[in-house]
Amino acid sequence: MSTPILVTGGTGTLGRLVVPLLRAAGHPVRVLSRRGGPADPGIQQVRADLLGDDDLEPALRGVETVLHLAGGPKGDDRATGNLVRAARRAGVRHLAYISVIGADRVPLGYFRAKLGAERALADSGVPWTILRAAQFHDLVLVMARTMARLPVIPVPGGLRFQPVDARDVAARLVELALGAPAGPVPDLAGPRIHPIAELLRGYLRATGRRRPFLPVRVPGRIGRVYRAGENLSLDGNIGTRTWEAFLAECTAPAGSPAGGLAGRRTGPEARPAEEHGPEATPADGSGQAPASSKAWRR
Ligand SMILES: NC(=O)c1ccc[n+]([C@@H]2O[C@H](COP(=O)([O-])OP(=O)(O)OC[C@H]3O[C@@H](n4cnc5c(N)ncnc54)[C@H](OP(=O)(O)O)[C@@H]3O)[C@@H](O)[C@H]2O)c1
Repeated sequence: MSTPILVTGGTGTLGRLVVPLLRAAGHPVRVLSRRGGPADPGIQQVRADLLGDDDLEPALRGVETVLHLAGGPKGDDRATGNLVRAARRAGVRHLAYISVIGADRVPLGYFRAKLGAERALADSGVPWTILRAAQFHDLVLVMARTMARLPVIPVPGGLRFQPVDARDVAARLVELALGAPAGPVPDLAGPRIHPIAELLRGYLRATGRRRPFLPVRVPGRIGRVYRAGENLSLDGNIGTRTWEAFLAECTAPAGSPAGGLAGRRTGPEARPAEEHGPEATPADGSGQAPASSKAWRR
């Protein structure tokens, strides 16, 4: 039996896709999160807060590879610092981390914290791999759903996104975690670059709604950085699934073969505008994605 792979954030949107892939590859998995999750055969759950004073030694005992996916709107630099110090003490041999495209370019707190987390890994003395990914479709869905609640949707001109399917990110991360430490690897983004209005139009069409758009301009440096496309990846790897295909899955009747997103949820955290970019209003408090083809519209 191989040593367990520790997956921090293994109960989140991404983590819940990664864990079964590791299991399918024959690896025992230990999941770390604050609230815990269901213990299945081959999956051990450990509760700890990476931002608190919890002793991380039990979670890291006997672990050679850590896949660090736990994250939230704030504090990823501190949480990662705590984890990497404990990992070094525990003799971990490979730390793999999910960061975000634009971590070193977008002047928002979430991105700065991701960059700080990247540096904590790079300075840890533990061999590491970092993958930067674009925003997941699930997050764009939360954003679109929230904005569609407004009678008129403010749409910042010149802003584009390249959302990626979390399943593509999960598959790549598993490949990386099971390989040798590789340092910074090419970004992973979605197959198409969309103006934000196009993403919103797709959502409105898929949910049978109509809303007028109000063009707005994001001022200052943040607006300039986004309009310059610093959040995009023009030379990285490209995921396989499009935003349109994701929406089609969401609208498929629950229980149908294509209705694979039924029961899937976005992360437990309601994320601030920063995590999607400057255009977004805060996510709703539920953090829940589609539970059925009707419920996901909300
Ligand atoms: N979503 C995106 O579009 C996107 C894009 C690029 C990169 N990323 C990165 O990918 C990672 C996963 O994102 P996601 O969308 O899957 O997030 P998510 O759904 O919000 O899941 C976050 C996970 O981390 C755990 N967690 C959060 N804070 C923790 C803490 N202080 N201590 C221990 N566990 C903690 C959560 O469980 P508990 O709440 O039970 O602790 C949960 O399992 C994050 O690092 C995120 O920054 C996300």
